[in-house]
Amino acid sequence: MHKNKSNSSLDFKKTQVEVALKLSIKNLDSYTHLRGESLYVDDVNIRQGTFHAVVFDAPKAHGTIKHIDYSKAEALDGVERIFTYKDIPGKNQIGGIIPDEPLFAENEVHFWGMPIALIVAESEFIARQARALIKIEIEDLPVITTAKQAKTKGSFINAPRTFSLGDTEKAFTECDYVFEGETFSNGQEHLYIEAQGAYAEPLENGNIKITSSTQGPTAVQKTAAQVLGVAMHKIEVDVTRLGGGFGGKEDQATPWAVMAALATFHLNQSVKLILNRHDDLRMTGKRHPYESSYKIGLSKDLKILAYEAEFLQNSGAAADLSPAIAERTLFHATNSYFVPNVSTTVLSCKTNLPPNTAFRGFGGPQGMFVIESAIAHAAYEIGVSAHKIQEINLLRENDTFSYGQIAKQVEAKNAWNSAKSIYNIEALEKEVENFNANNSNFKKGIALMPICFGISFTNTPMNHARALVHIYLDGSVGISTAAVEMGQGVNTKIMQIAAQVFSIPIENIKIETTNTTRVANTSPSAASSTADLNGKATLKACRALLDRLKKVASEDLNVSEEHIELKDEFVYVNNKKSDLSWTELISKTMLKRVALTENAHYATPEIHFDKSKEKGHPFAYHVYGTAIITTTVDCTRGTYEFDAVKIVHDYGKSMNKAIDLGQVEGALAQGIGWMTMEEIAYNDEGRLLSNALSTYKVPDIFSVPKTVETVPLETKGHELAILKSKAVGEPPLMYGIGAYFAIQNAIKAFNPNYKLKFHAPITPEKVLMGLYKK
Ligand code: MTE
Ligand code: HPA
Ligand code: MOS
Repeated sequence: MHKNKSNSSLDFKKTQVEVALKLSIKNLDSYTHLRGESLYVDDVNIRQGTFHAVVFDAPKAHGTIKHIDYSKAEALDGVERIFTYKDIPGKNQIGGIIPDEPLFAENEVHFWGMPIALIVAESEFIARQARALIKIEIEDLPVITTAKQAKTKGSFINAPRTFSLGDTEKAFTECDYVFEGETFSNGQEHLYIEAQGAYAEPLENGNIKITSSTQGPTAVQKTAAQVLGVAMHKIEVDVTRLGGGFGGKEDQATPWAVMAALATFHLNQSVKLILNRHDDLRMTGKRHPYESSYKIGLSKDLKILAYEAEFLQNSGAAADLSPAIAERTLFHATNSYFVPNVSTTVLSCKTNLPPNTAFRGFGGPQGMFVIESAIAHAAYEIGVSAHKIQEINLLRENDTFSYGQIAKQVEAKNAWNSAKSIYNIEALEKEVENFNANNSNFKKGIALMPICFGISFTNTPMNHARALVHIYLDGSVGISTAAVEMGQGVNTKIMQIAAQVFSIPIENIKIETTNTTRVANTSPSAASSTADLNGKATLKACRALLDRLKKVASEDLNVSEEHIELKDEFVYVNNKKSDLSWTELISKTMLKRVALTENAHYATPEIHFDKSKEKGHPFAYHVYGTAIITTTVDCTRGTYEFDAVKIVHDYGKSMNKAIDLGQVEGALAQGIGWMTMEEIAYNDEGRLLSNALSTYKVPDIFSVPKTVETVPLETKGHELAILKSKAVGEPPLMYGIGAYFAIQNAIKAFNPNYKLKFHAPITPEKVLMGLYKK
């Protein structure tokens, strides 16, 4: 119970410089989140007369449109207008990497849920009613739903890519063991709490402002301009925050924003388009399902000498981000291991599913699942525990990745050994053994999961950001960057950076909305790099301002600059507090007509990649860690619980331990969900069956591990990480892969005849089959 207002916001309002410097302040959004005051697209104050829109989409996965009858819908009272591709003044094209995706279908539909028209009405209710009155006739064309079918038919998004190192063919002849197999990992629904949506409003002279729930404001701006056939400066995109993105709004927030803008363009009136959950689930792409095959070769002493894999990525009906995601699968195909001979190929297979898209890990998890499967397979056949093979092959300093980067500041063994000793792996394994010896209806399984994830956009040119920092007359500060807050806490981190440089309390700092008129030509907030890129730009801008302020102070106090420091809102001279306060210094700076604004640009140094050779140094650094997962399987029901996940994670020098821990725990739950319970199902006609929360199960408080322990790995951090605090958004998702193998080990303990299968998610249904398969 809180007694008064100031008390309830105690930590937030009373946070002092000192607390900010301890670098563990609360997520600054927690206060408004808790009170329901945080603003999302649906909370924007809409103008009088705003129209509401609903998308009319394909009721078939593949076919030729023979006829559409809009007459009844158009005649419905309250319907303003229905827009189709014919109303597009610019290009009917929204493809980001490859121009292969129309905003609205023209003559053919390519997936169930493909947008065909936008119904604009006085209310969403009316627009929905109108949608039901539209009659469409489609002549069926053959539907492809799986990557394998696409491969057989030669249906691809682009040319395959191959990364190779050494000579696998020769190496396999020298191996004592060679194993081959196949794996499948299913897609995953993002299930951001805030569904896709946007609000477009007309400004003067045909300018349009779009409020969008997007990770990529520039992508929205650029695509809206292209579709409307106007210059980019006519479109302003603004983002306050997202109720989650998880990659699902890197590219796929764009169509809805562009549709709303298109209607605003024609009607000169505000238009709001927010998908309801059903529409969102049906129309948007998900994590890519992968069908893969592997061949792994080992020496007698369990060294992996050769690894080959072919990844069939189910890209869906258009490229979207698939080529970039496919590339990251190759980058992470050997996870945290050194393999001297590698040949991995990925094929982006074009199917009749919604275009699949970015999802936390961006193809990396799909690649890692395959090598972990190959290792589990080898371990089973050889008769050793998988973790023996994992351990022997962990990456070491100066090892070469298949893409040519030399591994530096490698923490793979450090994380692995720390996890083993901190959590006493021998005792944990004994416990599992004893339990299994004494129980017949329940069996426990344990698995270790090391991770290694590269930080940077794999497309080098995307690794840049800018920050625009204003110090206002009264000493308060406003910061604009390209960073989009989606729950990951990036705004808090950026605020900490400014608080630290200026040595002022965080309540003197405001993080502005992400807006294309203040910070332009941005990369999306993605690749776990948002805090690094935007934080480094902020740091640069703040330091430039600080230098300027110090110069003013030195003139004012008549001492040279190197003796001056700003501390706790005062100027210090030789470590002694002067009378010159932060606010006085700001007004003096203003009177001297010195700029109190700075715009800084940051571009990650050192990185490069040559696609013609598939070699380079694409990552600023890698993030490492190891998780130990234990599970108990109910061998009567096939259900399972996770007893514990014990993690040692490489945060570098975490700049905000609470936020970073939240990222680890959230990502872990999401990874476990992907591997165990989240089952996307399409029927052969390409219709989404798992189209509601009743048929698609995400982890809840009952299914997350009973305990999650996370210990930070002791390291010195990395210079290219913001304040040496390593990127944390995506890597821990891959700890969840261990859940699959822990369950499998429990099944093995129950059923000695069990033949390993690598078909994720390992749902209770599959567990039950495994338990009783003869
Ligand atoms: N955490 C929350 N709460 N919500 C999100 O949408 N997205 C994840 C991760 N953590 C996400 C999240 C993904 S996919 C990425 S790439 C990173 O956050 C993006 O933010 P960062 O670059 O600041 O880590
Ligand atoms: N990660 C995430 N998003 C991206 C990337 C990447 O490497 N490249 C393009 N978008
Ligand atoms: Mo994250 S998948 O890079 O948005």
